[in-house]
Amino acid sequence: EKIAAFQKTLLNWYDQNKRDLPWRKDHDPYHVWVSEIMLQQTQVQTVIPYYQRFMKLFPTVQALADADETQLMKAWEGLGYYSRARNLQKAARQIITDYHGEWPKTKAGLQELSGIGPYTAGAIASIAFNQPVAAVDGNAFRVFARLLKIDADIAKPQTRRLFENVIGRVISKDRPGDFNQAIMDLGASYMTATNYHSADSPMKAFNQAYLDGVEDQYPVKTKN
Ligand code: ADE
Repeated sequence: EKIAAFQKTLLNWYDQNKRDLPWRKDHDPYHVWVSEIMLQQTQVQTVIPYYQRFMKLFPTVQALADADETQLMKAWEGLGYYSRARNLQKAARQIITDYHGEWPKTKAGLQELSGIGPYTAGAIASIAFNQPVAAVDGNAFRVFARLLKIDADIAKPQTRRLFENVIGRVISKDRPGDFNQAIMDLGASYMTATNYHSADSPMKAFNQAYLDGVEDQYPVKTKN
């Protein structure tokens, strides 16, 4: 049926076109986590060399927990938002001390860790632990608002839950991490904020806003 066709088209496109990124070489939760935190306020191309250096300096959760503060801040220099780096170390210490080195594997459990909100928890749970949960960032808001013509105002905090529920219904149960990352790649290529390439998009048959000629009206976002 329609959801199965949507998943198949998206994942086939992803398999053939996914970006070759250093944090996609495996599904290690530490790799997923550090990359997702870096990607929160920083562009992919900027993150790549930082991520590679960071993993050489601090290859494991234990190494990050033990890291010297000055060295850690130095590794973060240029990325900005230093609270992200402080929270990374805090959470690494939580994992070592409170969880005896065992990662929580659910989205709710992951959100107990310092600096991990619903988006990052969804990304780690789906990519590293194969849980069929949404990872709702700006990309997911934009892509799903257009695909499904969702009129809810994404500026409202309660709208996140609506998107999480909708995505929970359409996400691939077999490959949830790839599904979420395919949405990220789609949002960075054919479904960006300002450039519409929908006519060439692999997902155009499923893009209701495009089919109705109203793509410019989605996502709905009030100023406040
Ligand atoms: N942006 C946020 N997370 C990402 C990921 N895992 N891959 C590519 N871009 C992203």
